Amino acid sequence: MTRIAVIGGDGIGPEVVGAGMRVLEAASELDPSVELDFTEFPWSCGYYLEHGRMMPENGLETLEEFDTIYLGAVGWPTVPDHVSLWGLLLPIRRGFDQYVNLRPARLLRGVESPLSEPGALDITVVRENTEGEYSDAGGRMYVGTPYEMAIQESIFTRRGVERVVRYAYELAKERRGILVGATKSNGISITMPFFDEIFREVGSEFPGVEASLMHADALAARIVLRPRDFDVIVGSNLLGDLLSEVTAAVSGSIGIAPSANLDPDRRFPSLFEPIHGSAPDIAGQGVANPSGAIWAASLLLEHAGHTGASQRVLDALEAAIVGGTRTRDLGGVATTDEMTRAVVGELLGSD
Ligand code: IPM
Ligand code: MN
Repeated sequence: MTRIAVIGGDGIGPEVVGAGMRVLEAASELDPSVELDFTEFPWSCGYYLEHGRMMPENGLETLEEFDTIYLGAVGWPTVPDHVSLWGLLLPIRRGFDQYVNLRPARLLRGVESPLSEPGALDITVVRENTEGEYSDAGGRMYVGTPYEMAIQESIFTRRGVERVVRYAYELAKERRGILVGATKSNGISITMPFFDEIFREVGSEFPGVEASLMHADALAARIVLRPRDFDVIVGSNLLGDLLSEVTAAVSGSIGIAPSANLDPDRRFPSLFEPIHGSAPDIAGQGVANPSGAIWAASLLLEHAGHTGASQRVLDALEAAIVGGTRTRDLGGVATTDEMTRAVVGELLGSD
């Protein structure tokens, strides 16, 4: 039995997570060994406006009882983003030491890339997820005066960099054996050379992996120009965030790409979510693309040891798109519900 804590969150979050749950239920109907138990939590900006917090004080303790967490999106215009995110998603990533943020991007069959010649596009970004530029070390001084200032320190630890870089090398070794480290050591002259040094050190353990470092600005451009050159990319929290949105966009739509926040050591639950946000502009209209949440559900199944079911869900998603069911962001007219029904239909062999 896999116990899943479900946090729909804000905007289109609950809509796409609802879709993902229907697909997960279909996957367990198909394969009775996939036993799933969902518990939903209303933690969101709406919850904040009522309770003054994004989640209860013992939120992390509550979540720790679960095997895994399935999240929609966090953020709504009524609450400043840094308040909502630092009140829910970021404390979960950090508190549960989900130090690997795995973000696969692949051009699914039936999906059109915005690039004229995308070629084969199958890139996984490994993003550091607990430190780096996302740090709460800093503060403001002289607030409200002409001398007002703000400082926020980036935190790079040997342990933090080493473990995520090693994960990326291992992954590259299992895949096509090509790893690029995203850096910016030409401009950021202390933390980034430290990252580069550790990237090279760990690389000596992986002679079979073709590894190189690229400055993140050039790398972003290269992903757009020649995506087929890339296999695995590893980067700091901020660089990994930016680059994974680029890899998602070139693979058709940010509505498709998933994000797995992993504690590879499995001391804590891992968290699965689409990479897109709460999309206030289309929330409540039933037109959001559930694909990112469904692909995230597939990653959840894989993490829970249900490799077959995980593959079946991804195949069903691809088949539904090939079959012509496409949401607006993919140039179609399908609603969230129609897309979800198409995927469930492909899974259960009817529609
Ligand atoms: C993501 C999001 C978050 C992040 C935001 C909402 C804090 O952009 O999951 O990529 O930057 O990590
Ligand atoms: Mn992001």
